[in-house]
Parts: sequence; C-alpha cells; structure tokens
Amino acid sequence: MLLDIHSHILPNVDDGAKSLEAALELLKLMQQQGITNVIATPHFYPHDDTIEAFKERIYNSYNLLCESKDKLPNIILGCELFYFNGISKSEFIREFTIGGSNYLLLEPNPYMLSKKLMDEILYLKNELHIIPIIAHIERYHTCKGYKTFLKFVKENKILTQVNSASFFDKSYNRIIKKLFKEKIITFIATDTHSMRRPPMMDVALLEIEKRFGSNEKRRIISNLEILYNNITAEAMNNEINHTEYL
Ligand SMILES: [Fe+2]
Repeated sequence: MLLDIHSHILPNVDDGAKSLEAALELLKLMQQQGITNVIATPHFYPHDDTIEAFKERIYNSYNLLCESKDKLPNIILGCELFYFNGISKSEFIREFTIGGSNYLLLEPNPYMLSKKLMDEILYLKNELHIIPIIAHIERYHTCKGYKTFLKFVKENKILTQVNSASFFDKSYNRIIKKLFKEKIITFIATDTHSMRRPPMMDVALLEIEKRFGSNEKRRIISNLEILYNNITAEAMNNEINHTEYL
C-alpha cells in the first residue's frame, strides 16, 4: 500500500489534468511508481468559486475518472483548500475534508503566515477535531513569518507534507534538510498536475533514503499507511486506532 495524499488528477476541474486521457496517463505513471491509492485534491479558492459549483464539478469529474480507470489506483475524493480568514468558523468546512474523514489538506496563503492562521489551525484541530495537513510546507521558506510558523507546527505536532518534486529542485535543498532534522515532515506527496509536473514518488523516496537514511524513508511510508487506515476507518465510522504519526 502506498498512498499519494496530494494530486490534481481529476480532469478539467483546476490547473491539473486537462483531459480524461491525461488523467489516466498520470494514474498509470503513479501505479508504475508503486502508488496504490490516490487522494484527488483539486484546488478550492474561496474567493473565486462557490462550494456548489465546485462540488458539482469535482463529483462529475471523479465519477468519470472512476468509471474509466479500470485497474489503476483507487481514488479518494479530497480537496486542497486555500486558507482564508475565518476558515475555522466556516459552516462548510466539513465539505472539504478528505473522503468524509476529519483530515483536511490546507494550502497556506504565502502572504498570511500569521498568528491568525495559527489560531485557526488550532481551532480546527482542538475545537472541531478536524486535522489539518499543511500542503507543501517547504514552499513558503522565503515568506514572512515562516520561522515562527515552523516553530508553531513543530510545537503543536501539526501534520505536514512536502512535494516529491521539491527533492529535485536545488532551491529547496537547505529547507528540506532543516525540516527533516527538526522532524517537521510527516508525509511526502506528488502534487502532480500533468506530465510537466509528473508524480515523482519512487525517486523522492529513494532520495530520502540517500540523504536522510532508510529509517526516514520507512517513517514516511509508515505515516502514509497510518493516514490511509485512519481515513478509511473514519469514512466507515469505525473505531480509529489512534496510532501516533512517527
Ligand atoms: Fe496542489
């Protein structure tokens, strides 16, 4: 079992796959890399979309892809929710969680790594029991407030994700090293959009092993397994074995 928790494989819903054929090609590549389950996380930008239009778009696309994918990896419907002020008080917040679970893939606004963001993350987690996963946390390393944000993430054991492609972009080498050293990374994911931004799961896992050792590679794989088990258990309203992420 290998789970990809961040991907734009749904055809024609965002800046990801541009056609059903393109989506199938990406799924095939994911399968070749050992991925068995994929969470489709189309972008939701609250400032220029409505929940109703978004839901209709993604359900139609998801159904089409599922009907056509045959033995390609299983797909779970999720979303990459762009942060907005007041997110924790939104009455629709549960519409955006992954596969009916309590997990939420949250894309920080690079201009708003603020105390407000951190307060809202804590509110989601502690009051609403929604578990945010911070999307591509490495990407914000040049943003104002990043250092404080990382401290907050670490202290509060907030779940995070790094993009597989970032391991092959030299500008992220330093920050990725720091994130591993500080034990801030919980998961990696492809964030694939197209063959120009392809899934790079297998090579990223090898790179983790090469740079940080086989224990770190095993830790990431094991965290992905824990997440998959929790998501599927929650979706079926089963008792969750609250295994701590490593
Ligand atoms: Fe994304």
